[in-house]
Amino acid sequence: MAKINKPALIYAAAKARGGAVAPHSNFQVGAALLTKSGAIIGGANVESASYGLTCCAERVALFTALTSGRKHFVAVAVVARAPGGPMPCGACRQLLAEYAPDAVVLVADSRKLAAIREFSVKELLPAAFVNVPAKNG
Ligand code: THU
Repeated sequence: MAKINKPALIYAAAKARGGAVAPHSNFQVGAALLTKSGAIIGGANVESASYGLTCCAERVALFTALTSGRKHFVAVAVVARAPGGPMPCGACRQLLAEYAPDAVVLVADSRKLAAIREFSVKELLPAAFVNVPAKNG
């Protein structure tokens, strides 16, 4: 597998951040997923006046990737104007544990893109819930 170009993926997340629709929090987040085959899929957060309907950048990127047939992810980058970079929320960690369990998670502050922090999905969500065996009756 090719080496992950971390600065390039962070840059893609920073670019995707430009698509954020965050009129309520004014906190724009961009995410970029790198597939095993080298494709990069971006996403940004979208907020609702009914706040709970908001969808994070990570999930927008993941849902876009999954619904365009991408299944194997090696890394995800997340960028926002936050000291040290934005940490994925619990809901996104759950989805990453299910669909990108082996991905490297890269985060960076939009003002300091070269300072990349790196995590594994497993360390962000240890002992994740992944499945319930089907039962009949
Ligand atoms: N948000 C993300 O998009 N990703 C994160 O990792 C953290 C939070 C969004 C959700 C909401 O639109 C805004 O940031 C404030 O929570």
